[in-house]
Amino acid sequence: MRVSKEKLKELITNKLNKAGLTEEHAAGVADVLVHADARGVHSHGAMRVEYYAERIAKGGITHNPEFKFEKTGPCTAVFDGDNGVGHVAAKLAMDEAIKMAKENGIAVVGVRRIGHSGALSYFVQQAAEADLIGISLCQSDPMVVPFGGAEPYYGTNPIAFAAPGKDGKNITFDMATTVQAWGKILHARSKNESIPDTWAVDSNGEPTTDPFKVNALLPISGPKGYGLMMMVDVLSGILLGLPFGKNVSSMYHDLTAGRNLGQLHIVINPEYFTNLNTFKEAIAQTMQDLNNIKPAPGYNQVYYPGQRSAEREEAYEKDGIEIVDHIYDYLTSDVIHNNSYDHKSPFAK
Ligand code: NAI
Repeated sequence: MRVSKEKLKELITNKLNKAGLTEEHAAGVADVLVHADARGVHSHGAMRVEYYAERIAKGGITHNPEFKFEKTGPCTAVFDGDNGVGHVAAKLAMDEAIKMAKENGIAVVGVRRIGHSGALSYFVQQAAEADLIGISLCQSDPMVVPFGGAEPYYGTNPIAFAAPGKDGKNITFDMATTVQAWGKILHARSKNESIPDTWAVDSNGEPTTDPFKVNALLPISGPKGYGLMMMVDVLSGILLGLPFGKNVSSMYHDLTAGRNLGQLHIVINPEYFTNLNTFKEAIAQTMQDLNNIKPAPGYNQVYYPGQRSAEREEAYEKDGIEIVDHIYDYLTSDVIHNNSYDHKSPFAK
């Protein structure tokens, strides 16, 4: 099923509004989800709506939160999200970080007490579109075995980075610190597809290809990915005085309670280090250089990070976004949610 960006935004906004969010916040979430779907990151797009709708309807996301922004120094601030939707809080916090980095060269803004905020590429691209470098990190629920461990401790703790190039193009890198994001397992489930045996382990700690048997995810590159997820947890959790490690709230445990998650935005103004045009030219040159690298056997070309997503976004603009049929059916139905997520282990079917 192919749907235009505008139509998809409208369907998501209506559903989340009916679940209890204000129209403004529902539209804010829709914008981030459609951004993800349009970039081909379906794991963080419309497929999440029913989960959000259930959490909103049950009160685990504040319907009309009282956001508080507090500057704690010339370049630092804390944004309290009052456990409203993370997407909107993280966007507004990035708006503030952009203003601060324009004035002072750098901004570090902690976003405290929020719900899930979706695909982090959205927020770092806000910075790149303002001719700044954006970095964003956030906590996520514990579902990853630390290197050498048999029990989950860290979340899929993503890291995103974007820097502006020329002609409105930017380089955007955005990844979970696991081999795959949890949403990719959900996406495989939604399409009834198997997964590579390098993504996750079953309840015995054995690699599995069945997305329904996944019991924990694996960090990227063993101890190195494990180290990165530790770093994300320190910067977006411990630094902000929030629960950390295995005490980070679960996405699916008690949908009546706020999640108290943390996110950290770091914005750097290139003008405080070099000439902005020189910087943007060099980023554009890097993008070109990478495309010009001779491809290895089996590859058509080298893409710069974020290139394939940007190309998908352009193609979807013309042809509409591809949405799995049952998700479209849910979005166009009168159902708010089917009570399918509360108190489920994230690894349950
Ligand atoms: P991914 O594996 O699809 O992509 C990771 C990075 O690799 C991207 O920057 C992508 O542009 C780049 N890439 C992929 N293929 C490439 C190629 N052939 N050539 C060059 N670069 C390439 O991303 P992943 O790890 O599955 O994460 C998906 C989304 O999940 C992200 O948007 C992330 O922010 C989000 N996420 C959000 C969480 C949350 O709690 N809010 C938790 C975990 C992930």
